[in-house]
Amino acid sequence: MAHIRKAKNLADWFDQRLSTNRLFEVMMTKYWIPKNINWLWAMGVVLTALFGLLVISGIFLLMYYKPDADLAYDSVNYTIMQEVAFGWLWRHIHAVAASMVFVIIYIHMFVAIYYGSYKNGREMIWISGMILFVVFSAEAFSGYMLPWGQMSYWAAAVITNLFGGIPLIGSDVVEWVRGNYVVADSTLTRFFMLHVFLLPVVILSMIAVHFYALRTPHVNNQDGEEIDFEAEASKYMAGDRRGAKVIRFWPDFLCKDIFIISLFMILFFALVCYHFDFAMDPINFERANPLATPPHIYPEWYFLWSYEVLRGIFFSANLGLVFFGIAQVVFLLLPWLDRSNVVKPAHKRPGFLLFFILLIIDLIVLTVYGKLPPEGSAKYVGLVASISFLILLFVVLPYVTMKENKQGDNL
Ligand code: HEM
Repeated sequence: MAHIRKAKNLADWFDQRLSTNRLFEVMMTKYWIPKNINWLWAMGVVLTALFGLLVISGIFLLMYYKPDADLAYDSVNYTIMQEVAFGWLWRHIHAVAASMVFVIIYIHMFVAIYYGSYKNGREMIWISGMILFVVFSAEAFSGYMLPWGQMSYWAAAVITNLFGGIPLIGSDVVEWVRGNYVVADSTLTRFFMLHVFLLPVVILSMIAVHFYALRTPHVNNQDGEEIDFEAEASKYMAGDRRGAKVIRFWPDFLCKDIFIISLFMILFFALVCYHFDFAMDPINFERANPLATPPHIYPEWYFLWSYEVLRGIFFSANLGLVFFGIAQVVFLLLPWLDRSNVVKPAHKRPGFLLFFILLIIDLIVLTVYGKLPPEGSAKYVGLVASISFLILLFVVLPYVTMKENKQGDNL
């Protein structure tokens, strides 16, 4: 048992019992970040702030929302939007934050891909990040169902129906997920539970794992330089702050991040007040009607690329489903599909840069065509873009990176 003396203050009381000073050192003041990074490395902290906003606004919405198929629509569109003071503001904050989380997640992911921050010891950061992406997708999908508008209902019908493609047990799984033969009140209540409890708990735990996974390999830097963090930290602590290649996570790195978060919040609240409509589908302002299918069903913009991979294979629903399943997990395999151990920004890796640009173009095409009705030439563009997506990841990436490995580090 440790020797406990009279505490000098509250912080000292906690420190004697929980070693809080040591914890603060390990996670903050002696957690070293390379100097050679740019503003794109602030996206992780922006994501943490956005998650905080989603939780706070969600708690306010929860005070008036009714998880009941007969009451949900009015509780959102009438009670929250019109009766409750500033209810509209919390709803707009929640909806815009849900969309912006995906904008920032995609930027964060593609920055990591561009700089090769997912390999050579950083695999666990990448894997925990990808799990966060999948759980965030489930969180967004379950949240979209809650207003019980036309798109909530029909998107839920289409997506839950996908489980029907599982061999042998498909239709049982669909029924189990819905809690009914069709999307109904039981579906709403279970997705409500997922949205407000189970998935947020998983997200919080995964954010903790993601942060922990960063602690040992440390974040990458703009040149992919392998830094000796201990030697550079000693330099820093000996007073050579200019010569050291590292800074402290707190206060140095986080203060800069807080500046970026402040700029981001200006943009965010401008969107919340003046352009919130980009995060809300007009069709969802019609009450859910199980008897009237909307002429064209599509998901939110951040799911369009994977939805198009599903639809793109228009001649075979089963094959489309297989492609869709692969598209959900393919990024998880990135550290192994990339056969090269070179960690450098893409502009210093010509073959990889070509792959990166083609991948972005392909994802944009998939997103644009995912929103269009699958008719005429759009069907064929979708088909080519879906097949190209898998070829890029399973053929082009291993090929260019294997060649790069052979050329060695003289890139
Ligand atoms: C809510 C979700 C997420 C949060 C809160 C979060 C947070 C963070 C933070 C704070 C950092 C360190 C600073 C930075 O590089 O920005 C980081 C780094 C990283 N994250 Fe995330 N992240 C999230 C999602 C993701 C996703 C979806 C991926 C990719 C699949 C990902 C992959 C990475 C990688 C590879 C790094 C290391 C970057 C480097 O070494 O330069 N993260 N994340």
